[in-house]
This record gives sequence, structure tokens and C-alpha cells, in this order.
Amino acid sequence: MKILGIETSCDDTAVAVYDDEKGLLSNVVSSQIKIHEEWGGVFPELAAREHTKNILPVLERALKDADVSLEQIDAIASTVAPGLIVSLVIGFSASKALAFAKDKPIVPVHHIEAHIFANFITQEIPYPFLALVVSGGHTELHIINEFENYKFLGGTLDDAVGEAYDKVARMLGLGYPGGPIIDKLSKEGKEIVKLPRPLINDKGKNRFNFSFSGLKSAVLRVVQEGKYKKEDIARSFQEAATDVLVYKTFDAAKEFNIKNIVVAGGVSANSMLREKMKERANKENINVYFPPMYLCTDNAGMVAFTGLKRFKEKGTTVGFDFEAKAKCRLDIFPKLIRPNR
Ligand code: KG4
Ligand code: ZN
Repeated sequence: MKILGIETSCDDTAVAVYDDEKGLLSNVVSSQIKIHEEWGGVFPELAAREHTKNILPVLERALKDADVSLEQIDAIASTVAPGLIVSLVIGFSASKALAFAKDKPIVPVHHIEAHIFANFITQEIPYPFLALVVSGGHTELHIINEFENYKFLGGTLDDAVGEAYDKVARMLGLGYPGGPIIDKLSKEGKEIVKLPRPLINDKGKNRFNFSFSGLKSAVLRVVQEGKYKKEDIARSFQEAATDVLVYKTFDAAKEFNIKNIVVAGGVSANSMLREKMKERANKENINVYFPPMYLCTDNAGMVAFTGLKRFKEKGTTVGFDFEAKAKCRLDIFPKLIRPNR
């Protein structure tokens, strides 16, 4: 069985083909980095225009790389939530048009779910596990009891951690996206200022929530002092951000007695986060899983894979009247796509 995946929830136009016997046959991503660099973040209207321009060439490339025709595809998996609505509707409308023209079923996929299950493309992971989702738009902790059985533990009260990386990079006059640049630069720096670790000791209602705007403002004050080197500021910020992520994830693992942790989303590519998570996991006899680097940031391979899983295990499809949603919590999603369950 072959499934086409389409992902346009933010600023990457991505199409992939996944085969349940052969694995990932193609995984094409057209990045809009150059376009959004000037703004230091994603500019929604520009993102939408670029998706419109790129979606069909990217589809053509993905089919060519996979050496399959649309007729050979069994279903179309499409990201329907959450994300920038103007971006989401372009990929989803393309999916509907293809499904209509070729009489194929549409399988809905949640963007965060796709990031989490991307981990399964290359490895076996036992349930239940704790998922730390860290990206440009999200910082969330979930318990994944099994596929489609999710419990939301907490999320960010303000900025997502990837967004904080991007903003700090902008303050330091580095490029966009800031995550990979800060990751690299901070290897040359030292932790010269102890920056705040927001909510790290909160044992009340924010125990599993995050907040990064205070950390971002603290970095701005340090930058404005003008006496520290960029690499030292980058290192100090990265130490603080990753400490919070690691501490809260292991606190949740302990609280719910979960022995497996999956890290997902663009920031899961971060080298310091990987090291700190592994070190802590070793100490506490917990297994920690990361996606391979090529599946960390947005891609359609993760959407095709998750869609195939849904199609095979649950048989869920949606009609042409189904609408994309800018916001939809992961634990609500299975009910949204199968309201009669
Ligand atoms: O998952 P993703 O591609 O898009 C969203 O769903 O948001 O994540 C993009 C985010 C950006 O904020 C980028 O700076 C961050 O992931 N990122 C990183 C690294 N690579 C990408 N952050 C820290 N370290 C990295 N190595
Ligand atoms: Zn993402």
C-alpha cells in the first residue's frame, strides 16, 4: 500500500510517498527560509503565496523520486490541524482536488501527531510513552497511551521554545531559523550569565506548562548591556532553555511512572537537548527516543507515515466538507475526525 503525504501547516511545502513494505520512497521539502529571513519569523501571507506556487512542483518531484504515478497511490494523507490557517488550507485543498480527480480517500493527520509518530519510521517504541513536542509553534507534553489515545499534560503559556530560539538569534543578529545557528554557536561559548529557568520549580498548576517569554526578555537585557560575546549569550540561553525542557519531562515521567520518552519537532534536532536528555535517561533507567535528523523539522514523510497508520489501523477518512483547523489540541483530534466514536 502506498500513501501520499501533504504538509503545508507553516512555511514548508512538503510532499512524500510512503510504502508500507518499502518505507519512505520520497520526502520532498521546499523551504521558504530565504523569504522569511528578512522578518525573522514566518510571515503568513507570504507563506500562503509560496505554498500556492510550490505545491504542484513539489508533488511532481515527490512522485518522480518515488517512481510512482498518482494512480498507484492508495490514499492521500494531509495535515489538517494545527497551523497557520492560510497555509493549511492550501495543502488540504490540493489534497481534496487530487482525491476528487483520482477518486482516492483522504486521511486526516494532526501536525503534532505526525512529529511524534515520525519517530516510528526508523525504530520500535513501546507504549505508553511521554512525548515532548518542541518546535517553532509548540512546546507540549503528552502521554501517548497508544495510537489515538492521548493525554495532554501541558503546553507553553506564551512563546514556543523554537520561537524563543528564533527571536534570540534575531537579537544577536544571527540568521533565520535561529535554532540550528544558536545550537552551533553555543558550542564555542560558556555559560557566563545564569538566566532564569521559567516555571522550573512550579509544583502547582504550571507544573507541566512552559513559559519562554521571560527568558527571552532576560536575554534581551543581557544583549543590551553590550559586554558579552554572542557565543556566550547563546550558550547561556541554550543551557536555560534545555534545562527547563529536560527537568519538566523527567518530572512528568516520574509522576506518571513512564519509562519511555519520545522527543519530537524541530528543536529535537538540538544537540544539547539530546545530550542532556540521554544523560538524565541513563541515570534514571528510562529510554529516550529521537527522530533521525532528516525527520526532525517539518516534512511530509511523517504525515504520510502517520496517515498510513491511521488508514490501516482505524480506516478513518474524511469527506470534502471537512475543514482544516488553525487550533486543535492533540487529545481532541481523534474525536474531531471520528465524531461518532
Ligand atoms: O517542527 P518545525 O520544523 O516547525 C514547526 O512545527 O514549528 O520546527 C522549527 C523550529 C524553528 O524554530 C527552528 O529554529 C527550530 O525548530 N530548530 C532548532 C534546531 N533545528 C531547528 N532549534 C534548536 N536547535 C536546533 N538544532
Ligand atoms: Zn512542525
